[in-house]
Amino acid sequence: MDLKNRSDRWGAVSQVLHWAILVLLVWIAWLGLGMVDMPNTPAKIGTYALHKSLGLTLLALVAARLAWRLYAGAPSPVVGTPRWQARIASLTHVALYGLMFAIPLSGWLFNSASGYPLQWFKRFNLPALSGRDQGLADVAAGIHEYGFWLLVALVALHAAAALYHHVAQRDDTLTRMLPALPRRRSTAPSESESLT
Ligand code: HEM
Ligand code: HEM
Repeated sequence: MDLKNRSDRWGAVSQVLHWAILVLLVWIAWLGLGMVDMPNTPAKIGTYALHKSLGLTLLALVAARLAWRLYAGAPSPVVGTPRWQARIASLTHVALYGLMFAIPLSGWLFNSASGYPLQWFKRFNLPALSGRDQGLADVAAGIHEYGFWLLVALVALHAAAALYHHVAQRDDTLTRMLPALPRRRSTAPSESESLT
């Protein structure tokens, strides 16, 4: 498989980052939703630390993913996709990128404004994004929590659209984001095909 994206298919780098980020998001969300109500024990501190370290890892992966996307480009919309659908898909992708940055950054800001230190897997310290400020901490916590639920809603829509293309439209939208599955319709029919 090509590393770089082609006009009809996502390359290996985009695919690995896409699916790795999905797995990481599920893990981070599961930790985040569980940790807030844990009793005050060392296990709670450990879970918060893991949530934050994984969240920072995700932030770095999203930055790499966006840089790669800008460098490697994106395939053209699958042949037959109406313009309005392609437009909505692009806007959804932009919103997903926005949230994938806003959620970890607001977590980092909340952490800083609450006066907590921040480490990445106990390996190095990260700087505070602000001084201690309770008002700012509340705003950042709101962005973190509501941003997360908005992300859940958008991802559900996005995944439903991909499945709709696969099951109802029977086109190549989903398979071109997967390794080596049989190809469906993604390019214009060749001359010989269009004559038959
Ligand atoms: C995309 C990555 C992240 C996701 C999806 C995520 C998701 C969540 C979720 C769902 C919660 C529970 C919210 C609630 O019910 O109140 C939460 C809480 C929290 N997150 Fe994240 N988070 C991410 C990254 C980060 C990062 C990078 C940090 C810090 C550097 C962080 C710090 C926190 C803190 C401190 C809380 C607890 C908030 C509180 O006690 O009210 N998160 N996160
Ligand atoms: C079960 C879950 C998911 C499915 C089935 C899915 C499916 C897909 C498919 C088929 C594409 C290619 C669309 C095309 O070629 O036009 C795609 C692209 C994309 N997906 Fe997902 N996806 C899922 C989860 C996610 C999640 C969790 C995110 C981010 C939070 C995400 C963000 C994106 C973005 C930004 C693109 C555009 C390509 C890129 O820049 O990497 N997806 N997805």
